[in-house]
Amino acid sequence: MVLQRSKYKGTLDKAKGVLRENTYTVKIKGKTYRRIIPSRSFYVHQWNWDSAIHAMATVFFDENLAFDEIRSLISGQWTNGMIPHIVFNPEEKLYFPDPEFWGTDKFAFSSGITQPPVLAIAILHVYKKAKNRRKAKEFLLEVLPKLLKYHNYLKKYRDPEGSGLLTLVHPWESGTDNSPRFDAYLSKINIKEIPSDVIQTVRKYRTDIKVGVKETRPRDEDYLRYIYLIDLYKKWGWDYKTIVKRSPFAIKDVFFSSIWAASNMALSQLIELSDSKSKASYFKNLAAQSKRAISESFNIKEPTIALFAPIFAGVESENKLDTIAKILITPKKFWSKFPVPSVSLDSLDFDSTRYWRGPSWPIINMFLIDGLSSKPTIRKNLLEKTMTLIKKNGFFECYDPKTGSPAGFPNFSWTAAIFIYLYYKYYL
Ligand code: GLC
Repeated sequence: MVLQRSKYKGTLDKAKGVLRENTYTVKIKGKTYRRIIPSRSFYVHQWNWDSAIHAMATVFFDENLAFDEIRSLISGQWTNGMIPHIVFNPEEKLYFPDPEFWGTDKFAFSSGITQPPVLAIAILHVYKKAKNRRKAKEFLLEVLPKLLKYHNYLKKYRDPEGSGLLTLVHPWESGTDNSPRFDAYLSKINIKEIPSDVIQTVRKYRTDIKVGVKETRPRDEDYLRYIYLIDLYKKWGWDYKTIVKRSPFAIKDVFFSSIWAASNMALSQLIELSDSKSKASYFKNLAAQSKRAISESFNIKEPTIALFAPIFAGVESENKLDTIAKILITPKKFWSKFPVPSVSLDSLDFDSTRYWRGPSWPIINMFLIDGLSSKPTIRKNLLEKTMTLIKKNGFFECYDPKTGSPAGFPNFSWTAAIFIYLYYKYYL
């Protein structure tokens, strides 16, 4: 597939500008790092899977920033191996829930949950693309033991039963916060049972609806439950054995598990590249187990982007891929004018502007594009639609899938990063 870079050159420069604007220098445990925040409007710390994506773009024009961003993320690792979903910046106060509310200070200056484990995919990409080979090798040898520890944490605490599907303990861990696929589980948490101090804290400190447009953000009843879960885990001392066993929200998620499958493949390659004593085959087997489990459980009732898990995971079955690809390109479902909506257009839960309940998100498009190697025409169409949407409408967090108009915060880093990544990967 040969696509011409020239028509996107102007936007490429703007994308790099967004990332430069959002680059901060932060001191953690006496060490200084350069890293990118998702958005100045609200997301002013470091987010786990956002950072992985940022590094996949910055390696093309500032590889030291890519190394640093990943090192900074890993600096937040807990002793149990978890790499948290947020690594805080001590200077920033805008975001709620703040470090004090999480009550995680004895583990790290971070949140207490994780996010889709894109990290191994990002490290493999950064390692391969970095021009300074000596630094790349040093980087790999430094981060690999920590990455192994993270994957061992996920296996031990999130899939001890060996199902191939990982347990999430908070909707935020999925990266797709208010997706309707969590509604039935969240509704089991009775709002009346949420302690009044938690409710008051949310009323007083919830900032996203003040700095952003309320109607595009998660609903009040969802947000109360998100914060309630954090409060509960804090009371349990962030003990993950207890959390996974007793949480009112502990669910297996195919979307998260599909990233886990792809990441285990990436990790096995990293092991082979580094001559590490760890067994690449162990992680290949984990990936195979997840792919099998995803194939068997993909027929979900709630039609969200989690339907495409076999594509993200790299499931090989042509039959399965044909079935899903058909759903993807059905205009009444996921092939809107500006795809890919996070929820099928014909779902009763579809809401074109409310965060993960309808809008199109570049991150999902990126995973789809990378995963659609056996469907080159769909891949090319989605790629062009994604690039032109960003070129015409700017670097927003997400977009209305019918009109293309922005549905989230502006100058958003991973949208800029994805534009850069796709540009260098697919255009000449
Ligand atoms: C929101 C998104 C999540 C992302 C974060 C920072 O919480 O749902 O996926 O990582 O914002 O951009």
